[in-house]
Amino acid sequence: MNRLCIRSSLRTISVLVVHLLIHVCEGQSQLIGSVQPIVARVGDDIMFPCHLEPAMDVAAKTLEWTRPDLNNIFVHVWRSGQELVKTKHPLYTGRTSLFTDELKHGNMSLKLSGVKLSDKGTYKCFIPDLRTQSTVEVVVASDAAAPPVISFSGVDESSNGVVLHCESKGWYPEPEVLWLDGEGNVLSAGPTETVRGPDDLYIVSSRVTVNKRHGHRFTCRVQQNIINQTRETHIDVPDDFFKVQSRCSATTVGLAVSLVVCIMLILLLLLLLWKKKIISKTNQMNEVESKDQKDDNAETEFLTEDSQKETEQLEEEIRDTNNQLQEENQKEEGAEKELEEEIKDTNNQLQEENQKEEGAEKEVKTLKNSLESACFIQ
Ligand SMILES: *[C@@H]1O[C@H](CO)[C@@H](O)[C@H](O)[C@H]1NC(C)=O
Ligand SMILES: *[C@@H]1O[C@H](CO)[C@@H](O)[C@H](O)[C@H]1NC(C)=O
Repeated sequence: MNRLCIRSSLRTISVLVVHLLIHVCEGQSQLIGSVQPIVARVGDDIMFPCHLEPAMDVAAKTLEWTRPDLNNIFVHVWRSGQELVKTKHPLYTGRTSLFTDELKHGNMSLKLSGVKLSDKGTYKCFIPDLRTQSTVEVVVASDAAAPPVISFSGVDESSNGVVLHCESKGWYPEPEVLWLDGEGNVLSAGPTETVRGPDDLYIVSSRVTVNKRHGHRFTCRVQQNIINQTRETHIDVPDDFFKVQSRCSATTVGLAVSLVVCIMLILLLLLLLWKKKIISKTNQMNEVESKDQKDDNAETEFLTEDSQKETEQLEEEIRDTNNQLQEENQKEEGAEKELEEEIKDTNNQLQEENQKEEGAEKEVKTLKNSLESACFIQ
């Protein structure tokens, strides 16, 4: 009795252990999705990988593909050996399928055909019986990426270079922007600016400062490695563009020179005014002195007749000094005229310089226009 009892309980235990083992083994089976996002272009047929490891037949089990961010989360449900269409999200009607031959190998990968932009998101594969799940992220790349447009953006005074600007629209996922010189070397550029357009696609732009030493052929390359997409545009910066460049700095030198000339002119004017004041003062003093002398002479006339000759002599002397004063005044007036002429000349020179600068600016503008139109053509 006892032995029998022990035997049967041993049998029960072993059955239990086997069941437990099977259950544990089943529990150990894990669904493996994809760590890397799946990148697809609109219209592509893609596969979301998901399989059990260790492998086991799942054809008879309930298998679920869901997208947790949707109201109706069911993308594809497999139950009792067929697809359960009833609960399916209409977005995926007729577009999903499992590889039914693969189910016995624990492979529940899903095929999705005719990818749309709205398909991007995180997908979950789930086997409720085994309480295992995994995820696959799907990125839908844009097929609308436009070739970059290069434009002249200005002049960098500090490095004596030309600043080029590059922009490209319609990217997804976010691409990177590279500037290359004529030999294909990557140039160091400013940070890439990224904006999300109204269509949810990225617009990227970048600026680079180039010098004559970089050559004159430059390339703006926009690339998205995940979707293996590259768009690029070349630009040829003409040699004389860099020359205009240095001419531009020459005009700044010209400006500095004219500034100095202006300051000198102002100083000269001040000097002139100061001189004029002194002259008028001395004239006033002379007049006062001569009046005094005349008065003195009148007095002496009454005093002595002998002194009349002296007064005549004095008068002559006064006349002489007056003449001398007048001559001096005339000379000074001449000097003033000369100065005025000098001022006029310098003013004319300044005007000429300004006109030259305007000409240089016009040249820069026309060159810029031609460059822009060149970019346009490219
Ligand atoms: C699952 O099945 C698909 C379709 O046949 C196949 O491409 C994929 O390699 C399979 N996955 C594994 C892990 O065998
Ligand atoms: C990327 O595209 C180029 C040409 O378009 C092709 O030669 C290359 O094999 C592609 N690389 C990958 C990883 O798809």
